[in-house]
Amino acid sequence: MRAVDIIEKKKKNQELSKEEIDFLLEGYLKEEIPDYQMSSFLMAVYFNNMTKEELTYFTLKMRDSGDTIFFNNLDYYLVDKHSTGGVGDKVTVVLGPILSAVGMATTKLSGKGLGHTGGTIDKFESIENFKFSVTKEELVEIANKTGVGLMGYSDNIVPLDKKIYALRDVTATVDSIPLIASSIMSKKLAIQSKLIILDVKVGDGAFMKTIEDARELSRRMVEIGNSVGRKTIAVLTNMEEPLGYSIGNANEIIEGIEALKGNWSNDLKEVVYEIVYLALKHKGEVETFEQASKIIDNVIANGKALELLKEFIELSGGNGEVVNDYSLLPTPKSVLEVYSNEEGYITKIKAEEIGKAAMVIGAGRATKEDEVDHAVGLLLKKKVGDKVQVGDLIAEIYYNDSKNIESSKNMVLDAFVVGKNKVENIKNILEIIE
Ligand code: URA
Repeated sequence: MRAVDIIEKKKKNQELSKEEIDFLLEGYLKEEIPDYQMSSFLMAVYFNNMTKEELTYFTLKMRDSGDTIFFNNLDYYLVDKHSTGGVGDKVTVVLGPILSAVGMATTKLSGKGLGHTGGTIDKFESIENFKFSVTKEELVEIANKTGVGLMGYSDNIVPLDKKIYALRDVTATVDSIPLIASSIMSKKLAIQSKLIILDVKVGDGAFMKTIEDARELSRRMVEIGNSVGRKTIAVLTNMEEPLGYSIGNANEIIEGIEALKGNWSNDLKEVVYEIVYLALKHKGEVETFEQASKIIDNVIANGKALELLKEFIELSGGNGEVVNDYSLLPTPKSVLEVYSNEEGYITKIKAEEIGKAAMVIGAGRATKEDEVDHAVGLLLKKKVGDKVQVGDLIAEIYYNDSKNIESSKNMVLDAFVVGKNKVENIKNILEIIE
């Protein structure tokens, strides 16, 4: 078998056999097939796509390039929720304790943030001494006690994805839907769960800018999961503005804690309630959204979900008192207020621009090597649909280093789009694909 013949076949839009996929991926991992041939193959996939059978096999082969995490000692209904990456996305912080409080457990691998989107690891690492589980044993111990099983990615999880992703990054093949689907699902299938819920963000701040692309990506990921016997559901959610009010790290942990005390932003609440509803429905515990809502309301009102978050933080090495005393979190030195210079209704808050405004003051990473300043971030004072006058406070920027503060402020001003008419009926849950 020769790599060039496999590339030729994909160029002609013919379906590859399992043996051909084995040859290509094993050869690339062992560095017997060079980057230039893999690049050419990836571009052929970009233009010609992959069939269901090819994509499923390709994904499993990617997964099996490294460690997989399967348990025989976690006796829960295990839910893996994955977000395709948003701005202000603190869903995992809130969702884990709620799923646990209603009788399930989360098992998922979490990552660090890069570019304009944040990562769950960075948010939790705002808490002094907090350490994510790095071994299966640690995850099982904490998940058995709290129902929250989060683990950081290691280099041994799907190493082929790291290698291929780096190549896609420099060969203009990142935005290929089958390649994104296999990249995400290879990592989802590397850790055991009963149900995978994919929160596919749609809009300005998201990987998928249009509903059509989001639908196609969702359909491909659901197809992969379901065809290997892992129930998979995609929830398409709105990213035409950041989720909630805070964008950063420590401040997103605070917003998550406040949500567990019942103080929610509407959009965050809608997304979290929908995901919990879907999990309860698939577990066979509820039929309607209203039934699920009552169950969730109850574990918020009785403090059970908050208590589980506190325990999870303590077992991960942090001080659980943080849920009552926010001064235990890193605090920024200065605040800059940003005022509107327009009048009307806010029609959009460009999430990507807001993510970048937070990144340039240190809340995110421009490159993988950058250090995050956990204390800094943005607080939105207005959301889409709100009315503004000239001079109204629209956002606060919390910072330590003033180096990029002016460009951050300009990005915030540019992000707020003001129009004459109020946007009505903002939908946060756009579609469900299963
Ligand atoms: N996230 C991933 O893990 N992989 C992609 O290809 C894109 C987003």
